Parts: sequence; structure tokens; C-alpha cells
Amino acid sequence: MNALAATSRNFRQAARLLGLDSKLEKSLLIPFREIKVECTIPKDDGTLASFIGFRVQHDNARGPMKGGIRYHPEVDLDEVNALAQLMTWKTAVAAVPYGGAKGGIGCSPGELSRSELERLTRVFTQKIHDLIGTHTDVPAPDMGTNSQTMAWILDEYSKFHGHSPAVVTGKPIDLGGSLGRDAATGRGVMYATEALLAEHGKSISGSTFVIQGFGNVGSWAAQLIHEKGGKVIALGDVTGSIRNKNGLDIPALMKHRNDGGSLKDFHDAEVMDSSELLVHECDVLIPCALGGVLNRENAPDVKAKFIIEAANHPTDPEADEILAKKGVTVLPDIYANSGGVIVSYFEWVQNIQGFMWDEEKVNMELHKYMNSSFQHIKAMCKSQDCNLRMGAFSLGVNRVARATLLRGWEA
Ligand SMILES: NC(=O)c1ccc[n+]([C@@H]2O[C@H](COP(=O)([O-])OP(=O)(O)OC[C@H]3O[C@@H](n4cnc5c(N)ncnc54)[C@H](O)[C@@H]3O)[C@@H](O)[C@H]2O)c1
Repeated sequence: MNALAATSRNFRQAARLLGLDSKLEKSLLIPFREIKVECTIPKDDGTLASFIGFRVQHDNARGPMKGGIRYHPEVDLDEVNALAQLMTWKTAVAAVPYGGAKGGIGCSPGELSRSELERLTRVFTQKIHDLIGTHTDVPAPDMGTNSQTMAWILDEYSKFHGHSPAVVTGKPIDLGGSLGRDAATGRGVMYATEALLAEHGKSISGSTFVIQGFGNVGSWAAQLIHEKGGKVIALGDVTGSIRNKNGLDIPALMKHRNDGGSLKDFHDAEVMDSSELLVHECDVLIPCALGGVLNRENAPDVKAKFIIEAANHPTDPEADEILAKKGVTVLPDIYANSGGVIVSYFEWVQNIQGFMWDEEKVNMELHKYMNSSFQHIKAMCKSQDCNLRMGAFSLGVNRVARATLLRGWEA
């Protein structure tokens, strides 16, 4: 089941659980606006190239719409629609005052030069500048885009509307980005793990962890868990997997990786078969790489007691059922990886205030938001007698439904 089907299924289950009126249920699924634009740029060799860009604004009942812009050859309207809808529920679970949006351009960023990417980003911004804005729709980086892309959008947008740092988040610090944004998703994963373990009378210190993915989210999660006294006993990325039953020395591994080394050449670990990573013995498994990695083939062999979904959609619905029967507790992505969007909200707030927070304040506020969402999800699980995934979806859908009804929806 792909991300679109899974999101719609979770939404429908949550709507039934909450007893939403069928008209409201239907209306919550319909996007506010779908934008499709043709972006034509001169390539470096003088020829013209055209790319299709999308922005789907799903819902703004709770505030300006928020969501990433991805550059990827498979970007299409269906996918962008599903991801925009997911952002509506995710911002509501996090209790940040935003709705949901997503955008993208169908292109292969690796095949475009830096100046071609800049021209493409500027043309896309020229086509959508009237439809985004600090209080309307606030883009952020996603797959294939980064802080530089946001800097170009900010610059192009500001030509039309005056200096507007809050029109995008995930910016470079020099242009109004927030301290702590780089680590935010991994830090949020660590706070979420702490909250879940505490609920079960456990802590990060003294628990064993297996992490798939050592990119932005995985490497920050590994470092912060290590700092809290957790033992990361196995870790894998696209190049391979390693283990050390006494716990990997994560700071040394980071240094090794930053010096250009690959996981497999790390001196203080044993190389293992990557197919065994997700079924390795441990207390907590944290997938931080791809979607769909836990499926009906490997779910029966999972030995972890807790799974923290740091990646988007790592557990397919069949695996979810198998894991539930085995008594494995799954902390859903819609909450577990929300640290990034929460700190994006802090970035927007700082830009509007014109006042930069120190990193300590960013991390402290993130901790508060992650803990508070966890308590609200638990309360929803109790009142609806459901698992954490449905508790989180019901919390998000209920908040959006309440805002919609309060605003009134007579045309
Ligand atoms: N970065 C964020 O703020 C953020 C926020 C929310 C969700 N996410 C999700 O978290 C996940 C990771 O994002 P990221 O920003 O860390 O990406 P990234 O590109 O920085 O890192 C991805 C990691 O996954 C590894 N990987 C790729 N294919 C793999 C494979 N077949 N087997 C094992 N490892 C593999 C890569 O080697 C890399 O270490 C994605 O699902 C993303 O959608 C990220």
C-alpha cells in the first residue's frame, strides 16, 4: 500500500472513530487549491527545458498552510496531494497553528547545474508567488531541496512583496534560519522515544537501539540517544550495516563518516548483513531511511519491543497488524518525526518577532511540544480505545474538524 492509500485509510478510520458527519469527512479530504505550473528555463548549453511544478494547499482551517517542496523525477499531483493532506494532520498533532500543503517539481536535481537549479527555483517562485506568503502558505525543504533552495525562493518572493523572511522555513541561519533546525527531527525522535519509554517504566539509558539510516535524522537520533546513555548496538545505511554488542561509539563513528569513511570500514564494529538489521535483537528499533521497510515478510521476525517511526511510512499496514499481535508498540511517524515541522514553526515565529532565540530555548520549546503531543495522543488512545497510530490520527483529524466547524462552512 502506498503513502496515499495508507494516509486516506488512516484518515477514514479516524473519522469513523470520531463519529464525524459524512459531509464534514468528505469536505476535509478535498484540497483547498491545486496549482500546476509549467516552468521553462534556459539550460547552461542555451537550449530550453520545461518542468512541471506543483503546489497543493490542502487545508487552512488552523492557520497558514505548511509543507515541503521536493525536486524529484517522480513528483506527480497524486503524490503531492497525499503528502499535503498528511501535513494537515501532522501540524494538528504537533499543535502548531498551521494547515497542510506540499509542492514539488518533476526534475532530477542531480542532473541540473547549480545555476540551472537556481533559475528553475526562481521561475517556479514567479509562478506561485501570489499564492504563497507568510500568512497563507509557507514552504520548506524536502527531498532534493535544501536551505539554498529556500534562500532563492525568499529572494525571488521578496522582489514582489518586500523582504519576507517568514515566507519559507529551513533557511540558512544567515538569512533568518533557526538555530537547532538541522538537528530538530532527530532531537524530536529522541524526545518521543524518551516519552514512550517512560510510559513503560523504562529509559533511554540502559536500553539497546538499532537504527536504519545515518543521514540527517538517523545520525542526530543516534548521537542524542548515545549522549543520553542509550546503547546503539547496530546501525545501517545504503552502503551496509555494522554492529557492536557493547554499543557503537557514535561520536567516533560520526568523525569517521565526516572524514569520508563508510560504515563498513569503521574499526570498532563487526560488519553484518543488512537484511538482518531490522530483525536484530534490541529494545528499540528506529527506521530513519525509507518507507515500507517493515512488511509482512520481515515483521514476524522483528525482535524489538518498541518501534519509533522516524522515517515517513516505514511500516506497511500488514506489518502493523503483525506487530500489534506480537505486542510490539509502534510510535507513528505523524508524531515521531514532527520535530522538524515544530522547529520550522519556531523559525517562522522568530522571523515574525524579528528576534532570534538561542539554541537552548529552541530545544526546550521542542521538548515541551513533543511531550505535550505525546500526552494528548495517549489521552486520545484512552478515550477511543485505540493504538498510538489511530490515537495520533484521531487527535489531528479532530483538531482540524473542530476548527472547521468553529469557523463555519456556509459558503
Ligand atoms: N530531515 C527531516 O527533517 C525529516 C522530517 C520528517 C521526516 N523525515 C523522513 O526521515 C527519513 C530520513 O530523512 P533524512 O532527512 O535523514 O534523509 P537523508 O537523505 O539525510 O538520509 C537517508 C539515510 O537513509 C539511508 N538509506 C537510503 N537507502 C537505504 C537502504 N536501502 N537501506 C538502508 N539505509 C538506506 C541513507 O544511506 C542515509 O543514511 C525519510 O523517510 C524522510 O522522509 C525527515
